[in-house]
This record gives sequence, structure tokens and C-alpha cells, in this order.
Amino acid sequence: MRILALETSCDDSAVAYLEVARGHIARLEYLTATQEIHKKYGGVVPEVAAREHAATVPTLLRALADKVVGAPDGKALSRVVDRVAATRGPGLVTSLRVGFEAAKTLALAWNKPLLGINHIEGHVYSNWLSASGGKLFGEGEKIFPALVLVVSGGHTELLYMKSHCQYRLLGATRDDAAGEAFDKTAKLMGLGYPGGPAIAKLAEQGNPLAHDFPRPMRNDPHNDFSFAGLKTAVRYFLAAHPDSLADEAFRADVAASLQAAIVDVLVDKTVRAAVGAKVKTVFLAGGVAANASLRKEMARAIKERAPGVRFVEPSRTFCTDNAAMIAMAAYFRAKGIRLPQNDILLEADPGWELGRPTL
Ligand code: KG4
Ligand code: ZN
Repeated sequence: MRILALETSCDDSAVAYLEVARGHIARLEYLTATQEIHKKYGGVVPEVAAREHAATVPTLLRALADKVVGAPDGKALSRVVDRVAATRGPGLVTSLRVGFEAAKTLALAWNKPLLGINHIEGHVYSNWLSASGGKLFGEGEKIFPALVLVVSGGHTELLYMKSHCQYRLLGATRDDAAGEAFDKTAKLMGLGYPGGPAIAKLAEQGNPLAHDFPRPMRNDPHNDFSFAGLKTAVRYFLAAHPDSLADEAFRADVAASLQAAIVDVLVDKTVRAAVGAKVKTVFLAGGVAANASLRKEMARAIKERAPGVRFVEPSRTFCTDNAAMIAMAAYFRAKGIRLPQNDILLEADPGWELGRPTL
């Protein structure tokens, strides 16, 4: 199966070409253009993001064709593609539309089936991309049922996966996402956007025990999260120490303590849910899955408290938004159905939730 995928759900424009043959990734090419323009606003401006996508997607498609068929030629690319996939939701509607409508046009002009992919499902399938060039992850192994902790700028949720493409939402954030907790506190500290990588870097020099920030809902028996209170606690703490913010050691301690609070909650709740649901595998997914402390602490806690459960983390390259993960999700979607699915008549769906029972 040979898939062309587009991803434009937020502020990264991305395209990918994935070829899977006999359970192996035969070829994977991908390009991502991060919209630097939002840095000056300290967050993503939806209208600006959509305009940037519209300007970037054709350039990316030409560059991808150049990689795949040796020329920036859409016609030549169409000859090697048998399915077109694009993110249909969730995300910013104006951003989603650019990629999804472009994919519809290509699918129509090339007469190929279109797959509208859930962005969160894409993040889940970033775990299957780590084995790039080789055998597809999990082929011939018992990996399900599995639990996925999805942690991104817009989502924090625990998904139970019965098998490929089958999800049940066990819990989600009631307010801010884990990535937002990083981004918003980074903004308070003048660290710019996105804040996660900046906080993580600063935290390397700091003491995670320096400040005892709250761990919201850590010990609650349900699987939901809440990070808004943590951000508020950090805001009050910083306001109470106005002169210390210029001190590099103080900033590093705040970053390390904040990161520890977020990681503690994510790890505890995930391990408890994994044991309760008797899963075989725990996956991490989403931009925050790139966080080194989260990866390390999760691996340690699973080893200690859920021995026998396998822990899988996506390659760092594919944690933040990209189109390779959308192509991989499309591969498993397409593989699971006999007739080629065609989503050409569907619209982008900014609120599409994965795994929540529908009425
Ligand atoms: O998945 P993603 O690229 O976009 C969404 O779908 O939201 O995730 C972006 C989020 C941002 O909040 C960013 O700050 C966070 O992932 N992030 C990190 C790290 N790298 C990215 N958070 C913590 N540590 C990191 N190393
Ligand atoms: Zn994402």
C-alpha cells in the first residue's frame, strides 16, 4: 500500500509518503514546515496558521514529489500513490480545512480513495514509525490490549486499545492539556512558544524537589486529569518572588519542579490505569512524549509497578505533529477494511473525539 498523507491540524504543515509491503516499511519520506511566525505572538493565531498552510502545502507537495519520484511533478507522484490521507480532526478548523480540502482535490483529480484521519489516532500510530526501514512494529506479536497516554498541546487522555484502530476513552483532561501546562508556564517565565522544549532544557540544570507544586488529581481513582490549577499555582508563586525571576538557578528550579509535578501525575495515573485494565503494552504519544523525564520516569514506574507490561515510546522525531504518523494510521485503517474507504464527501471535524462512545 502506498499512501500520500497531509497534516495541517494546527501550526505545522506536513506531508509524507509511506509505502508498506509484506509487513515492512518499504519507504518513508516526510517533510514538516513549522510556522515560526507564531513565536512573536506567544501562541498559535488560527487565521495566520491557515494562511501559512495554504502558502506552504503546495511547496511541500512539490518537494515530496521530488524526493519520491525525482521531480516536483504531481502527475508522476499520482502514479505511485494508491491512497490519499489527511487529518480531518480534531484541531483548528481553519487549519484542518486547508489540508483536508487539498487532499480531497488530489483524491478527486487522481481518482484515488481518500482517508480522513483522526489526528490523535495519528499520534498513536507514531509508535509504529520507530521501526522505519524495517519490519512493522508488533507484527506477529501480542501487543493488545494496550493503553496509550496521549499528551500534546491540546490533549491529555488515556485510550484503551482493544486492537488496531479500536479505542475506548478511559479519561481526559477536564481543563488544560499537559502541553498547555508547559506552554502557559513557559510564557509566564518569558520562555517563548512552544514552551515544552524550553522548560525541559531549563529543568536539566534545576532541582525537581526545590518547590512543591500541586499534583492535581494524582490520587483520585478516576482516569481524568486537570492541569489548570498547577499553572495558577506557578503564577502565584512567581508573583510572590518578582525579583528572583532574573536568577538563572531560580528559573531552573521552577522549571524542574513544574516538570516533576506534571510527570508525576502522568506516570501515576497511567501506571494505575494499565494495571487496572490489565494491558499488555503501554504507549506514549503526542508532543509531550518527547519529554526525556516523562520517558525515563514512565519506564521506571512500569518496570517497578507493572512488571510484565511492555513500555513503548515513539521515536522523538515523530512525537510532535507530522504527516508520517497520519500515513501510518491510514495504513492500519485501510488494512482493516475490505472495500477502500472514501471520505471525499466528509467535512473537516474540529471536535472529532477518538474512542468516546457516541449516542
Ligand atoms: O502533538 P503536538 O506537536 O501538537 C498538538 O497536537 O498539540 O504537541 C505540541 C506540544 C506543545 O505543548 C509543546 O510544548 C509540547 O508538545 N512539547 C514538549 C516537549 N516537546 C514538545 N513538552 C515537554 N517536553 C518536551 N520535550
Ligand atoms: Zn498533535
